[in-house]
Amino acid sequence: MKVNIAVADQSHFKYAEKIVEMMEGSSKERGTVLAIRTPEYIKDKMENHKAIIALDEDGTIAGFSYIETWSHTKFVANSGLIVAPKYRRSGLARQIKRRIFELSREMYPYAKIFSITTQLAVMKINNELGFKPVSFSELTSEQEFWEGCYGCPNYDILQRNDCKICLCTALLYDPSDEKKQQKQQEI
Ligand SMILES: CC(C)(COP(=O)(O)OP(=O)(O)OC[C@H]1O[C@@H](n2cnc3c(N)ncnc32)[C@H](O)[C@@H]1OP(=O)(O)O)[C@@H](O)C(=O)NCCC(=O)NCCS
Repeated sequence: MKVNIAVADQSHFKYAEKIVEMMEGSSKERGTVLAIRTPEYIKDKMENHKAIIALDEDGTIAGFSYIETWSHTKFVANSGLIVAPKYRRSGLARQIKRRIFELSREMYPYAKIFSITTQLAVMKINNELGFKPVSFSELTSEQEFWEGCYGCPNYDILQRNDCKICLCTALLYDPSDEKKQQKQQEI
């Protein structure tokens, strides 16, 4: 099985409904917290080249993730990571995460990049990419982002805590950290 990973475009519109089905299926798995999107939303991401798609050579959809921008592109969220059950535990999420991270850096080099997750796999991969755990107060305060959590079984916890605390861990990549490190190494 050979899986190809690419920046999505309009030629991938035909996969939008299947991606939503995968999201719906995964959200029923124990411990999974994933925002369900509409096929239109997925197509918009594809059309604007703000998504990574993984396709098996036989054309089966194997994985997906997309980019959202917040606070006037001060923040970029790498969201909606999904790998179809058949393709899990073979390093595919790591490859998709790397590509969506690279794409985010190319498109928004000055943005802080973040993910919120309950998944150990995502924590591991983001740690490898230079993300650090932070409190929710370090992320976008844009209400629309947090409204995206509506539908999560833990949404009441988030609301009760004024969008400052929930069960997800927030992971943040700050491009200015790299510059600080470079300066320290030069001293
Ligand atoms: C989470 C998910 C994306 C992982 O995909 P995957 O392709 O199986 O992950 P990878 O094979 O790239 O694994 C990356 C690392 O995470 C580990 N890992 C993967 N799944 C794991 C799990 N369920 N529990 C603990 N560790 C896990 C792997 O062992 C690997 O670590 P290692 O290199 O140290 O061995 C996939 O299980 C999925 O789609 N889940 C449902 C949707 C979801 O939860 N998305 C995340 C939303 S934030």
